Amino acid sequence: MTETLDISITKTLNSRLEQTDFSNLPFGRTFANHMFVADYADGEWKNFQIVPYGDIVMSPAISAIHYGQSFFEGLKAYKHGDGKVSVFRPYMNAARFNKSAERLCMPDLPEDIFVQSIAALVDVDKDWIPAQANHSLYIRPFMFATDPYLGVQPSKTYKFMVITGPTGPYFSKPLRVKIETEYSRSTEGGFGYAKAAGNYGGAMLPSRKAVEQGYDQLIWTDSKEHLYMEELGAANVMFILDGKLVTPSTRDTILKGITRDTVLNLAREWGYEIEERRVSVAEILEGARNGKLTDAFGAGTAATIAPIGEIEHEGQLYTLIDPSQRVFSNKVLKTLDEIRYGVTPDPYGWNYMV
Ligand code: PLP
Ligand code: COI
Repeated sequence: MTETLDISITKTLNSRLEQTDFSNLPFGRTFANHMFVADYADGEWKNFQIVPYGDIVMSPAISAIHYGQSFFEGLKAYKHGDGKVSVFRPYMNAARFNKSAERLCMPDLPEDIFVQSIAALVDVDKDWIPAQANHSLYIRPFMFATDPYLGVQPSKTYKFMVITGPTGPYFSKPLRVKIETEYSRSTEGGFGYAKAAGNYGGAMLPSRKAVEQGYDQLIWTDSKEHLYMEELGAANVMFILDGKLVTPSTRDTILKGITRDTVLNLAREWGYEIEERRVSVAEILEGARNGKLTDAFGAGTAATIAPIGEIEHEGQLYTLIDPSQRVFSNKVLKTLDEIRYGVTPDPYGWNYMV
């Protein structure tokens, strides 16, 4: 652990907490009172500040806007019954943050700075963490290039920021998903494994088309043949097939999810056989037909554990077993909630106490 980060804190005089309707918290629309900001210049991170949440002024020439030197993370803070506050596995996000930075030619951020900045911000805005079930404070750290220069080369200056907001679950019902066989989210040698802003921009057109056709989400497939499953929208995809936990192995094209890793840890402990490998569309659909597919879900920070109810492929709709009957995903969600909300002890050290 490095020494404690020297953060200047300026608190708002106009809290929006009282006016916020905590009974209606769709994902990503409500922001807490403060944000964290730091600058990178001359080869180092400096000016660590917590300031009132608000607009920022930027040059219109920054390469974040023009060339996509911009990426983010997503994690959550939880309020326990005794009022204590924890953040879930932030060092995992810190490590992935630097993987994204490396791929986009952006500077490394020491993991302790990442975690301490989040802990300090969450502490300042801890009254914003919802207490009701299935709710949390979503934390969005991000970094972007700030040089006012239009040349296509890595910026020399950057900002690291963190914003937060109270939220409920991202999805409210079992998903009707479409297997994408035309567009690709990422390719071999690309940067699908990074949380680059551009990965999400590029996913919007295919996702919108799927929504227009009546689906909630896409399952991305490999870009070469569209025969193997990769991810479920902005979440990893997992199945119980023939009693085994089956999930695509991570590679260049897939974001290595922290929820995915967490689920794998629990499944291993519960004695499930685990197969991390290429997962073909054909075998999953066959499992849906012959009843060997007994669970299917997305796993992600925003998505949490999101059951897949129906899968479409080439004009045919497959209805999966009733989500309420699913043993594995229901047990995972319950166990995860109990750990994250401090209902049961956390033997894994996943909760970082603020
Ligand atoms: N895949 C993509 C493309 C994502 O955006 C996310 C969300 O962060 C995930 C997977 C799940 O990752 P995690 O569980 O770390 O949130
Ligand atoms: C997250 O789960 O944190 C994500 O990044 C998903 C988000 C793009 C909605």
